[in-house]
Amino acid sequence: MALVEIKDLRIEYQTRSGNLSAVAGLNLNINEQESLGIVGESGCGKSTLGTAIMKLSPQNAKLTGQIIFEGKDILKLKSEDVRKIRGKDISMIFQDPMTSLNPIMRIRDHFFELFKVHYPKMTKEEMIKIASEALLSVGVDPSRLDNYPFEFSGGMRQRVMIAIAICLKPKLLIADEPTTSLDVVVQEQIMQVLKNLKKTKNMSIMLITHDMGIVAELAEKVAVMYAGWMVEYSTVLELYNKPLHPYTQLLLESIPNVKIDDMELKHIPGSLPDLKNPPKGCRFHPRCPFAKDICKKEEPPTVEIENRKVKCWLYGDKT
Ligand SMILES: Nc1ncnc2c1ncn2[C@@H]1O[C@H](COP(=O)(O)OP(=O)(O)OP(=O)(O)O)[C@@H](O)[C@H]1O
Ligand SMILES: [Mg+2]
Repeated sequence: MALVEIKDLRIEYQTRSGNLSAVAGLNLNINEQESLGIVGESGCGKSTLGTAIMKLSPQNAKLTGQIIFEGKDILKLKSEDVRKIRGKDISMIFQDPMTSLNPIMRIRDHFFELFKVHYPKMTKEEMIKIASEALLSVGVDPSRLDNYPFEFSGGMRQRVMIAIAICLKPKLLIADEPTTSLDVVVQEQIMQVLKNLKKTKNMSIMLITHDMGIVAELAEKVAVMYAGWMVEYSTVLELYNKPLHPYTQLLLESIPNVKIDDMELKHIPGSLPDLKNPPKGCRFHPRCPFAKDICKKEEPPTVEIENRKVKCWLYGDKT
């Protein structure tokens, strides 16, 4: 069952030098109790998508399409109705951990603030109980409720943010690059925390990352984004075994393979196009080793192959 249905979502940022097309016609479902990885290079629209689901897009963003959550289009909800969902049914761990916690507020008050929005009658004892349980579930001692954010290491701070995000048992947790700013050991610990939560909390997780390895650790499904498009969608297993889209193939090749002693990280040749003036036809064609004539002229269709999706002329009708 789909928990979130995203239909023809388009997001443009209005800037002084023109409109930037950050998400361009995205169709995607996030199923109940399923983990979905969103992968793609920097700038391909991952955070733009995550913040749109939270209805926290910046002022200069223009959105069209639908994001249906439990039968309601989030994009059409009034702000007071969004506030009832945000932080409770859908919550997000933001990409920049330093700006997400208020430096002059104790950890306790971050929790309390959230509880007051959703449960104004909750007693202080209940608040402390729920916050303590949430902290314990991510491996942080509840005595740390009285600490300020700066009193935590990066990894511990990330655990705290996860605890705040999951304390009201959301149906969907959006985790935007939850491990990027951490060293490898701590990164692995945070992944363990997320894996445990996935097992015990019955929630859907949307894991945003540019790291294909991290997706494999946690997610069942994966959506590959390129320049505002979803170019491929599949189970993680199938995607790794047989990537369909040329971009996915290059992304997978860019993972260093330690086993065969090949530590050199390959880069995908070229760079992301200017999204204020995206290439005609397929947005990936300037970098695609298989680009043919049609790719330069017409937008590729999204083709369904078994339960997978791929947006590429290699799989479309036209040759
Ligand atoms: N507020 C904004 N105003 C104008 N352009 C923006 C704004 N926010 C993002 N963009 C642009 O939209 C595009 C998508 O950005 P987004 O942050 O969603 O990418 P991302 O995939 O999350 O990248 P990263 O992996 O670096 O976090 C980029 O070209 C970015 O420069
Ligand atoms: Mg981002």
